[in-house]
Amino acid sequence: MVTPFQPDDEKIPALREALPSTAAGIYLNTGSAGPLPRETAKAMAEAEAWELRTGRADLNYWQDSLDRMAEARASIAAILGTSPSAIALTHATTDGMNAATGAIDWQAGDRAVTSSLEHAGALAPLWGLRERRGVELEIAEVGHGGDREAVLAAFDHAITPATRLVSISHVSWATGVVLPVREIAEMAHARGALLAVDGAQSAGAIPVPVEDLGVDFYSVPGQKWLLGPEGTGALYCAPSVLDRPRLTFGGYASFESIDLSARGKLWPDARRFESSTLHQPSVLGFARSTAWLSMYVGWQWIHERIARLAGQAADMLAEVPGVEVLTPRSSMAGLVTFRIAGWQSGPALHELSQRTLCIARTIPALDAIRISVGFFITEGELRRFRDGVALVAANTPETIPHRASIELLQGGLD
Ligand SMILES: Cc1ncc(COP(=O)(O)O)c(C=O)c1O
Repeated sequence: MVTPFQPDDEKIPALREALPSTAAGIYLNTGSAGPLPRETAKAMAEAEAWELRTGRADLNYWQDSLDRMAEARASIAAILGTSPSAIALTHATTDGMNAATGAIDWQAGDRAVTSSLEHAGALAPLWGLRERRGVELEIAEVGHGGDREAVLAAFDHAITPATRLVSISHVSWATGVVLPVREIAEMAHARGALLAVDGAQSAGAIPVPVEDLGVDFYSVPGQKWLLGPEGTGALYCAPSVLDRPRLTFGGYASFESIDLSARGKLWPDARRFESSTLHQPSVLGFARSTAWLSMYVGWQWIHERIARLAGQAADMLAEVPGVEVLTPRSSMAGLVTFRIAGWQSGPALHELSQRTLCIARTIPALDAIRISVGFFITEGELRRFRDGVALVAANTPETIPHRASIELLQGGLD
């Protein structure tokens, strides 16, 4: 049983028991999809069994679905420091970024600004605008993102009075840098633009007080640092965007009422950014994972542990001869990106996976390896991973010993 105030030596084993896939290897890829809590999987399986037995069309079931969606909105609102009425449920981060980007009444010649460290989740909706609407897309060159003044200067240069939207990540999926969202929001607003933030690598890893950050849209996934199922997410919508009736995807869920002549009343709150049916077991799973993190694990503990362990991982790796850490140490969250001299990232990660049983990914655009340091990772696992990196870095693809180094796999789950 996990409780918020257990000592770490009891809490970590209890957490890992509650997250069974942490035993399948060194789980360093929460940035793609986090380990699902046992409790979430159980609740989803029960909901699926219920649907199988009783069907999904009963009026009571419909009412239950609405209650479940309200619970999921409330749960994510609490994590983002806002009210449930500011939250729309989505299917993914990208879904929310598309909704945000499309909510602006774009005209040819308008500008959109993004950064040079973005994922397709922010870029692809902008690409669509450039292709279809003649919107000019300006990319602020921010390097690896570590020089805060240079980052702000790049946005200062890129955002002009013609800019309607600035669309960036809070934490870059590529270098793991935390961008100065609050300052960029102020800059955007001073020039009449809105700010949409891709929170795929931030929500659940660092505090995200959306109202305090002053963003207009903030899109988060369920499946990454919030440990929910895939196909879930949420979009925060500030009051600044709720006084405009523009919709990207409209559907029955966006409206309080709509008649046969397509006259209707949009929901006054963020639900107008919802459009249609969601997979109910997943909505339940999303609410369960976020509630489990909030009630049993505790946000302050999670954020402090991720900051400490990810910093430790970056420092350990930086000390290995031949390793270059790309993540700016002074502005990082839970991601650490690095290169190993003499190795392409794909073969290097293959060797690391074989020898340490790590689960991580490459960032092809940087030819680098990225690890995600979740709160459930142990210091022993980080040391074993570091030893694996040192072994790879001390060799070339030609000289690396053929056999997996069994020693690296030993040592238990300390
Ligand atoms: C920064 C960023 N944005 C968007 C995505 C895509 O997330 P989703 O599948 O929730 O749209 C990812 C990761 O897959 C990401 O790292």
